[in-house]
Amino acid sequence: MVSLREVLAKSIPLDKAHLIYHSYDIIGDIAVVKVPYELDRYEEEVGEAFHEARPNLRAVFRIVGHTEEIARTRQLRLIWCRPSPSSEEVAGCENLFRTVYREHGCRFIVDVEKVFFTPRLSYERMRIAKQVKAGEVVVNMFGGVGTYAIVIAKVCPGVERIYTVDINPTAYELGKENVMINKCFRKVVPILGDARTVCQEQLKGVCSRVIMPLPEQAILFLDSTVEALREGTECVINFYAEVTGRQIDNGAISVMNETKTKLKDYGVKRCEATSWRIVREVGARRYHIAIDLTVLK
Ligand SMILES: C[S@@+](CC[C@H](N)C(=O)[O-])C[C@H]1O[C@@H](n2cnc3c(N)ncnc32)[C@H](O)[C@@H]1O
Repeated sequence: MVSLREVLAKSIPLDKAHLIYHSYDIIGDIAVVKVPYELDRYEEEVGEAFHEARPNLRAVFRIVGHTEEIARTRQLRLIWCRPSPSSEEVAGCENLFRTVYREHGCRFIVDVEKVFFTPRLSYERMRIAKQVKAGEVVVNMFGGVGTYAIVIAKVCPGVERIYTVDINPTAYELGKENVMINKCFRKVVPILGDARTVCQEQLKGVCSRVIMPLPEQAILFLDSTVEALREGTECVINFYAEVTGRQIDNGAISVMNETKTKLKDYGVKRCEATSWRIVREVGARRYHIAIDLTVLK
């Protein structure tokens, strides 16, 4: 099999081809690619190059426009497809965006246009799943198509229950399908709604762990997180945040201090950040970090 680098080099100037190498995700049989504006006129060649380097692909989409603020979805434009459909078919064909992604022995039906999904969190999902112990009840705020919850159910069959909450109706529907195809309907419960309201109204005091994978806004939901935690038991919060700047350690320490202060304001008696790590770089000196906290309410 030829490498993407080799194929791109045939049609795109060498000094520009590198802009593509680290800017794509393969999700099932779909590639989602960030093509910088300098390469606008090579869009078709980029699509063809992916097809040549990855013959199993069914479609290649280019990310156009900004990330939607709540659902975290991105506008996509088809730049290559097998077999090439007519424009009416593209307009009417929802399935063009749907694929099945495999990870850690689980299968996830994903709609790359209507839900947030990234394979780049694969390690992180397994890292969290390995922390979960038999008997735990987990609340996964911002659960998307059920990825964290289903991996946890697979890795820790003794887990009591995982509630996976998402505000995006398509993510919720796919979450339900994913629960069925992965046969974890006794363990994983998808809930449609705003994590804040759901925690305050349906999941008060139910869990010993809350997972919060929305780095840009998780800090705004800590009051509801505390509501969902059980009183008098040592609990865990898997918290995510965005940190910018050169001094990543200082940024992480300041987020940890702010988080601990907020948790205490919301009624937590004891709180300790046990570890943190960089999950991924999301821009120039912009990082998503994961912080694990143990708390007693
Ligand atoms: C960064 S994605 C994480 C998705 C998932 N955890 C994963 O790893 O694939 C954030 C998710 O949070 C959801 N979301 C955003 N605001 C929300 C809210 N207030 N309540 C519940 N879900 C929310 C979005 O719809 C999106 O699916």
